[in-house]
Amino acid sequence: MYKISFLDYFKRKSGISKIYSSINYFHLLLFTVIYLCKTGFDAYAQEPKDGTYLNAALFGTNFKWGAACASYQVEGAWNIDGKGPSIWDNFTHKKRKIHNQENGDVATDFYHRYKEDIALLKEMEFGVFRFSISWSRIFPKGTGEINPKGVEFYHQVIDECLSVGIEPWITLYHWDLPQALEEKGGWANRGIISWFNDYVSFCTEEYGHKVKNWMVMNEPAAFVGLGYMLGYHAPGKKGPYKFLKATHHACLAMAEGGRMIRKNIPDANIGSTFSCSQIDPYRNDPVLEFKDRGAVKRMDALLNRLYIEPSLGLGYPVDALPALKRIKRYFEPGDEERLKFKFDFIGLQNYFRVVTKKSLFPPFLWAKQISAEKRGVQMNEMKFEVYPEGIYSIIKQFSKYDIDNIIITENGTCFKDSVEKNRVLDPKRIDFFERYLKQVLKAKNEGAPVNGYFVWSLTDNFEWSEGYEPRFGLVHVDFKTQKRTLKNSGYWFQSFLSSSKEE
Ligand code: NOJ
Repeated sequence: MYKISFLDYFKRKSGISKIYSSINYFHLLLFTVIYLCKTGFDAYAQEPKDGTYLNAALFGTNFKWGAACASYQVEGAWNIDGKGPSIWDNFTHKKRKIHNQENGDVATDFYHRYKEDIALLKEMEFGVFRFSISWSRIFPKGTGEINPKGVEFYHQVIDECLSVGIEPWITLYHWDLPQALEEKGGWANRGIISWFNDYVSFCTEEYGHKVKNWMVMNEPAAFVGLGYMLGYHAPGKKGPYKFLKATHHACLAMAEGGRMIRKNIPDANIGSTFSCSQIDPYRNDPVLEFKDRGAVKRMDALLNRLYIEPSLGLGYPVDALPALKRIKRYFEPGDEERLKFKFDFIGLQNYFRVVTKKSLFPPFLWAKQISAEKRGVQMNEMKFEVYPEGIYSIIKQFSKYDIDNIIITENGTCFKDSVEKNRVLDPKRIDFFERYLKQVLKAKNEGAPVNGYFVWSLTDNFEWSEGYEPRFGLVHVDFKTQKRTLKNSGYWFQSFLSSSKEE
């Protein structure tokens, strides 16, 4: 049977067969590929869906662009080279704690593959890498004896960053408390303040000549709330009293940690990171809305104010959440002053909006959250509402405090991603970043002191109690082979960031 190829058909129809005869198929294919790549690539950076132009240059030349990760979520090597167990090693090895019974024993094997990951970060044109130190890799038992191989590992990571021109930003505590300290009560034991201080002192003395940007803690509301009140996260403790104790000790340790960094690295840029959410009332009806506004106030105290206000000298937000008065029983003389520390920057981490209504449960809070699912709004794989305006309002809310510098130390989302022909098409994530970044820019243009934005996360990783299912990375990781594949959102950032460098 006579077959006419698509190209022959096109030549005949268009009457340009003479021109084409001088061009072979190979050239045609090459031109097409180059054209498609170029237009597709430009489109990533330049055409947000609502038609407005978004460009990294609009954020200013000093704006920090980075991507973040955390030790337990990526390192793996949980018992290698002298590392001691952390509460997350212990918790994930118990039954029925983690989705699919998964754990971070191997994670993304960052311990052996950090060079490849830092190279990917560089390829995407980021200038900052935020990672955390695993306390029990340095002090296997939390205090006392030091593990030289663990100390060396972070030197290698830092040196790798510096050698490729990436600024390391270190978080000292991203939730992986040494198990040995949990056995003494963990964050609920006041001794944690000095154990933590010794660890901070060691790290800053050891790495301070190379690293100037430090975050004392990551999201105390999350590790205390989920770990010591609700029991969903390690160490799996429950109840209001442990929660209040752990809260007070975390706030004291955060301020003391800040002071220790300042002492050891006088020119350091010191921050700590806080989870935060815009909180709205559920009901519209004037009477019910009034009730829900009370719920909003209490939620706001718990989720947004509780951990930052003591450091600012405002004390605990007892005005909005009277149940917090009980925290006073854990105070010792001088604590009011010790809680204060003037951070150079505040790290804000925003993932969702909270919509709440008055409720008879749980006691003390008298408020419950109405899920995004129930409200039928756009969500990601973890059922977090996609609500870009929330990051704007939260920046504005925190800008009212006496804060000179805000860095968005985490923002990102998870969708189902898969590799097809070596590409990962993730348009929903690109759309997410475009819409959130526009809101960050809006707040900045209105005068909010926001000077940096770090994507969560550099690579897909272990998402705590959700295991490996939620993929937050700009880089896809095949957890069986550890193969890395840059997602389209990674290419989007590459284009977005390099376009600003060309200007
Ligand atoms: C905030 C935490 O810091 C990070 O560890 C976590 O993976 C993200 N939220 C996403 O849930």
